[in-house]
Amino acid sequence: MTMLWTGDELMAAMGGRAVGDLPGGVGGLSIDSRTLASGELFFAIAGDRLDGHDYVQHAADAGAAAAVVSESKLDSIDPIKMPLIVVDDVLASLRDLARAARARTDARIIAVTGSAGKTTTKSMLATLLSATGSVHAAERSFNNHWGVPLSLARMPRDCDFGVFEIGMNHAGEITPLTKLVRPHIAMVTLVAAAHLGAFDSLDGIADAKAEIFCGLEGGGTALINRDDERCEQLAASARAAGAENVLGYGASADAQFRIIEVHPGEEGSAVAVDLDGHAADFDLPVPGTHMVSNVVGALAAASLAGADLDKAIAATGQLRPEAGRGRAMVLGEGAAAVRLIDESYNANPASMAAALEVLAGTAPGPDGRRIAVLGDMLELGTASERLHRELEEPITRAGVDRLWLAGPLIAALAQQMERSAGRSCLAGHFATADALRAPLLADIRPGDVIMIKASNGLNFAALVDAIRDRFAPQGAARNAG
Ligand SMILES: Nc1ncnc2c1ncn2[C@@H]1O[C@H](COP(=O)(O)OP(=O)(O)O)[C@@H](O)[C@H]1O
Ligand SMILES: [Mg+2]
Repeated sequence: MTMLWTGDELMAAMGGRAVGDLPGGVGGLSIDSRTLASGELFFAIAGDRLDGHDYVQHAADAGAAAAVVSESKLDSIDPIKMPLIVVDDVLASLRDLARAARARTDARIIAVTGSAGKTTTKSMLATLLSATGSVHAAERSFNNHWGVPLSLARMPRDCDFGVFEIGMNHAGEITPLTKLVRPHIAMVTLVAAAHLGAFDSLDGIADAKAEIFCGLEGGGTALINRDDERCEQLAASARAAGAENVLGYGASADAQFRIIEVHPGEEGSAVAVDLDGHAADFDLPVPGTHMVSNVVGALAAASLAGADLDKAIAATGQLRPEAGRGRAMVLGEGAAAVRLIDESYNANPASMAAALEVLAGTAPGPDGRRIAVLGDMLELGTASERLHRELEEPITRAGVDRLWLAGPLIAALAQQMERSAGRSCLAGHFATADALRAPLLADIRPGDVIMIKASNGLNFAALVDAIRDRFAPQGAARNAG
């Protein structure tokens, strides 16, 4: 076991008092006793629904080396044969440890925020930077008040690059997180109507995203998407926050890291770029022009972090679409195969438009049709109804033949389309994904291309599973591309 933190380092970073004999060190950190690996330190974090203090015994059973618990809850924990570090506030102690991880590292640190594309860009960066050195990247979408400190505190003592995702639902949330991460490069992928809930306008969202720049290290670089409507506002905020350099990526002539040409295909795009004077061509094996934007942003960040640019460009060939974020599957053989585009992980207006564009670019078989299965986009606040109705435009533009809808919010779109020319493609609206499953399965025929997308809470992943089980049982599905 490589030692992430020694017992002494833990006490020095977090303070608190030890109960029992602390181990010489811990191999990792966990906040979830279900996934805890033997030898890890368990943090008993209190969340919205569950309190880690109720799982300390479970963590001990799973082989935890020790647990960090709160003084005020010590009495409620049954006597346990595991050393404890008792602190005032467990989450604050995790932040202390994160700060210590940041202080001890020589790694180049990149932080990514944006309304869509954070996790994708972060994962791409992990692959591109790995061609140059060792990389620590946050797990999944660990981007909030516990995800960021946990990811940072998990950074090994010797790595060359650290990549972190920072998210937000409200103004002010990014500031403490970026100050913890202290990035050398802070990037904003996109400003769009995701989580409009807490905001009046896109300007407000742009300002909230721009908070990421206030954590920049001295001499650090702000990296913005020059194709984003709010890029000037972001650039001004970055300068106001003291960013030494403000650089851009995108197709815009103002971008230093520039997309020169894109030839989109079903299984990816052929891309020509000029990366701050370094011209290159590569094939990106991930479909969607939004993915070209993400990869060029990732190449820009990698280059600014000191990675070998030629190696990073070569590594773009290893990228793959991720489950729920555009992964395409071919179910069956030849012209009769059904193609499935799995976008079930997330949805907001920008990512809906991007995914519909991918559907438009995917050719059905001879008798097949383009089918879109769309569900609610959550957390859009007062603009929600309008933003759902406005999906008609990208749906029409994509040439969707059959439109299946599920969820209470997207009912607004169904009603609107019943009154318009869009009526001809509307197959039906259902309250839930469950209710939609049977009629959808009955509708699918050989050669169809189906794109499935909704916010994660709608559980459209179950529809993806159902279609796969039906048309490619026994794991006969192949990943496209
Ligand atoms: N640059 C982009 N523009 C629009 N949509 C995007 C972009 N990048 C990714 N998406 C879409 O947004 C959804 C979420 O992607 P993800 O990378 O998980 O974003 P985040 O971590 O910001 O939530 C996916 O459906 C993906 O296809
Ligand atoms: Mg994410």
